[in-house]
Amino acid sequence: MKKLSLFACLALLGAALLTAAHHESSPKAVASVHDLMEDVVKPNMDVLAAMKKRGGPQSEQDWKKSKSAASLIGEGAQLMLHPERVKDEAWTGGAEKSIEGAAAVMAAAEKQDTEAWMAGLTMTGQGCRTCHKPHKPKKK
Ligand code: HEC
Repeated sequence: MKKLSLFACLALLGAALLTAAHHESSPKAVASVHDLMEDVVKPNMDVLAAMKKRGGPQSEQDWKKSKSAASLIGEGAQLMLHPERVKDEAWTGGAEKSIEGAAAVMAAAEKQDTEAWMAGLTMTGQGCRTCHKPHKPKKK
């Protein structure tokens, strides 16, 4: 019985190692950070910022649109966590905060909760600034 379970453990370990080896072929970072910002993050942040100006999403369509915009911001921030892109703790922390904020916006959109939606958007913006402060080149 004992021998059998040891064998089972080794088999599991082998399977785990195979899985780990398989994961080494992880995806490559393709887009530049500039393009991710300009074409993925910014247009969707603009959608949310415009809704914020109007006091939050105003219609069924707004709520839906805000959820998909937030999801793409979250996904964009997720891409910033690719090992080939990460620079330091401000980078990781900023991206994680944006992801958390975007998830909060999505959850609030689902419930059509304006207050939570605003709070989620604020958190998203804090994530942007956390990373930008040290990493985004200043405008000339
Ligand atoms: C993990 C770091 C990081 C996070 C998080 C981040 N950014 Fe950026 N962002 C950058 C860097 C680095 C640049 C400069 C890119 C470049 O031009 O090389 C940049 C540039 C930009 C630009 C200028 C585009 C350009 O490069 O001309 C905009 C707009 C922008 N970010 C929006 C956002 C918004 C909105 C968020 C939050 C939802 C955000 N970013 C979150 C790192 C980040």
